[in-house]
Amino acid sequence: MQTAYLNGTLLPLSEARVSAMDRGFLFGDGAYEVIPVYSRRPFRLAEHLRRLRQTLDGIRLDNPHDDAAWARLIGEIIARNDGEDQSVYLQITRGADTRRNHAFPASVTPTVFVMSEPLLTPPPAQRETGIAAVSAPDMRWLRCDLKTTSLLANCLLRQLAVDAGCVETILFRDGYMTEGAASNIFAMKAGVMLAPPKNHLMLPGITYDVVLELAAAHGLPCEVRDVSEDETRAADELWMTSSTKEVLPITLLDGRAIGTGQPGPAFRNMYAWYQEFKQTVMRCGE
Ligand code: PDD
Repeated sequence: MQTAYLNGTLLPLSEARVSAMDRGFLFGDGAYEVIPVYSRRPFRLAEHLRRLRQTLDGIRLDNPHDDAAWARLIGEIIARNDGEDQSVYLQITRGADTRRNHAFPASVTPTVFVMSEPLLTPPPAQRETGIAAVSAPDMRWLRCDLKTTSLLANCLLRQLAVDAGCVETILFRDGYMTEGAASNIFAMKAGVMLAPPKNHLMLPGITYDVVLELAAAHGLPCEVRDVSEDETRAADELWMTSSTKEVLPITLLDGRAIGTGQPGPAFRNMYAWYQEFKQTVMRCGE
């Protein structure tokens, strides 16, 4: 049985209910985070909570808890759910109103929801052969830096990949690569790792930061700058990163091979560094 938290109460996930007048349901008016948990310890919790604050500030919603209270709550959910490795999902919406109205209610009681699911990291075959991606114009709004529950565009874009038998959709806006439908994208060219800069056009990924830190720590040359669509298609390697997918090589884009069409040497290094980092920081402890 999965145990969830809803508005102050721990309860079986299957019994969690919110009002049909909740603005999360009516408008997608809310913020969320997905936090991977390894050996029952949340990965980069402080960074996830910082991004949550940025999203809440960006959508003008008060943070219902300080970081210490969030940490206690998340710890409680981890303890009450099965599995050493989990994926904690938390969501705060602007709560239920008495009538449907785009403008905010005069007083807000947010809906706070936390649950945990088993952490399903990608099957090894996806790392060994790489995954296929499609591309699409990035038709989302201009605050992609906020992790809001208004995810219809991301859902439609990810579904394009699934419809084509692929794993991810790489997004291009005005001739430049922004990110994936639910991941950040890195390119390798001539031994240099290329990463689009954090701005309003992409989510500042927690895994993205880890990958940049690992590149710096291991001396992999890196340029954080706009990456054009042409550069993306002509890359030697492409990777996608996210909390649940970690780092995955993209070896086919729109039916054409990326580089050799096989996961490249830089990916293999980065994947090994990532696992080593996880192992050191999370599993063996301080
Ligand atoms: N999504 N960009 C988008 C649009 C995302 O939805 C995600 C992650 C990322 C990667 O961010 P991070 O490394 O912090 O997970 C980038 C999560 C996993 C989700 O919505 O399920």
